[in-house]
This record gives sequence, structure tokens and C-alpha cells, in this order.
Amino acid sequence: MTPDLMEAGAQRLEQSGHLQEGSSGGRSPGYGRVHVPGEVDLTHGRILYLEDVHVSFDGFKAINGLSLDIAPGELRCIIGPNGAGKTTMMDIITGKTRPDSGQVYFGSTIDLLRHREAEIAAMGIGRKFQKPTVFEQLTVFENLELALATDKRVASSLSFRLDASQRDRLAEVLQTIHLADQVNRQAGLLSHGQKQWLEIGMLLMQDPRLLLLDEPVAGMTDEETERTAQLFLSLKGRHSLMVVEHDMSFIRTISEKVTVLCDGAVLAEGTLDQVQADERVIEVYLGR
Ligand SMILES: Nc1ncnc2c1ncn2[C@@H]1O[C@H](COP(=O)(O)OP(=O)(O)OP(=O)(O)O)[C@@H](O)[C@H]1O
Ligand SMILES: [Mg+2]
Repeated sequence: MTPDLMEAGAQRLEQSGHLQEGSSGGRSPGYGRVHVPGEVDLTHGRILYLEDVHVSFDGFKAINGLSLDIAPGELRCIIGPNGAGKTTMMDIITGKTRPDSGQVYFGSTIDLLRHREAEIAAMGIGRKFQKPTVFEQLTVFENLELALATDKRVASSLSFRLDASQRDRLAEVLQTIHLADQVNRQAGLLSHGQKQWLEIGMLLMQDPRLLLLDEPVAGMTDEETERTAQLFLSLKGRHSLMVVEHDMSFIRTISEKVTVLCDGAVLAEGTLDQVQADERVIEVYLGR
């Protein structure tokens, strides 16, 4: 994230009053205070930390004692049967769903449960939903440009201009997502895979610390899937990634550590070979 955007994000956080005393729902004031606005505290070696999280929907325990943590720069794969709670977990991390209990931290100091969805995005957690949501009428360039605008209404007017570092970032992102040769193409004319990459590029424009990707290769051709695997491998290190997928050959290409979710909690964790050999995982997910 460029310094001006970091500054803007920090100002928004301050203005929101969300970090001020009295808005913490009974928690002690200052407990999750951001000491350096825009900075994520990684001193404990974790960029994301969930502990004993519970969520019920009308009595159904969608998330039931979920605990996991992710290291800075890690590419974590999450697998598990339909209804395991994978998407719900992302809803919780991004502030879309409030858990009934538990802890969710970004770095060591930022209590995500005290922040709203837009604030969490501004702090550096980018989320990619399954369906591509690019602006079909705009070009690839305009979509990426729009991703930087803090006020989307001014983005299309003449008052929004990229500065030099933003232009550099845009050029870099275009290379990363392999769309440099499509820069002036209308997004609606791109293939399904290209739209997915463009949307990932829009997230990358903000240089997020953590990227949450829900079934990113669903509907892609084999070649697009392979390219996406290479893209994710190129992103890890600079970014931390949490990738939910059912495509096991894709998972095999990109995975280091795999977490298996089932019934709203972690069933197993390890390398893909380790979890695939786990009897409980075979039982609930991989089949015999
Ligand atoms: N807002 C909601 N209201 C009621 N039930 C919900 C809500 N969101 C999720 N659920 C339920 O919670 C469970 C977990 O759903 P979730 O979408 O998180 O699963 P998932 O692991 O992402 O599954 P899939 O692999 O099919 O995407 C499901 O049984 C789902 O029906
Ligand atoms: Mg899901």
C-alpha cells in the first residue's frame, strides 16, 4: 500500500471512532489498539489468529470451536466438505459475520472483532469471492485504477489521477496477473479466468498483507488453473494467502500446509500427503 493510502486508511480508522474508548462492547479500552496505524504487529509470528470461534445460525453451529493461525508470508490451503464452514470463516475474518464468541486477531494487536468490514479491508485484508466482480464496461486499466480510488465516485471523473508510484504499482500488477497485453481491453470481453485474475489484481493494487481467496479456480480451464497456481506461488512471501479450494490437483501444486475443516472446526492439519492419509479426513471428505 502506498504511503498516501496508508495515511488515508489510518485517518479513516481514527475518524470512525472505532478505536476509541466506549465502543468496545465491554472489553477493556485500548485492548486491541493499533499502536502504529497501518502497521501489523508480527512479533509473535502470526498474521492471523483465530481462537475458539463459535457462530450459530438459528441454532445450527456453522463454526464450532475453530482455532487456527497463519504465519506472515504463508500460503495456507483450506479444504473440507460442503458446509464445513470455510466461507463462513472468511465472513468472520472480514467482518461480514460476527461470531458469538472467540478471538480473531490480525497480527498480535488488531482485534478484528472490533472493526467493521470496510475498516478491515482498509487495514490490508483483501477478499476474493468466487464469482468475479469486475466492472465489465471498463477496461482492464480502468478497473485497476478504480481499485486505488478511496472514493469510487471520483474515480471516473477527471479529478482522479494516479501518481507516479501508483502508476508503477499498476504496471507491476499487470505483469503479475499476466494481463499486460490486455490493458486496454474491456473487462467484459475477458475470459472467465482472466476476469478472476483481474479481480485479484484489483486486490493487489492495495498491496494487502493478507489475501483470502474462496474457490479461485472454480470454472477455470486446466491451463488457467495452472497459471493461477503459479500466480499464487509468486504472491506468497510478500503477501499471506488463505486459499479455499476443492480442486485437489491445484492444492497439490500450491500447498505447503493444509488445514481440513469439518463441522466448523479443524479436523486435521499438515502437508497434503499427511491429511490425505488421515482416516478421519478420508471418512468425511476424500472418500474411500
Ligand atoms: N447466513 C447464514 N444463515 C444460515 N446458515 C448459514 C449462513 N451462512 C452459512 N450458513 C450455513 O453454515 C454452514 C457452513 O456454510 P459455509 O458456506 O461456510 O460452508 P463451506 O465450507 O464454505 O461450504 P462449500 O464448500 O459448499 O462452499 C452451512 O450449513 C450453511 O448452510
Ligand atoms: Mg464456501
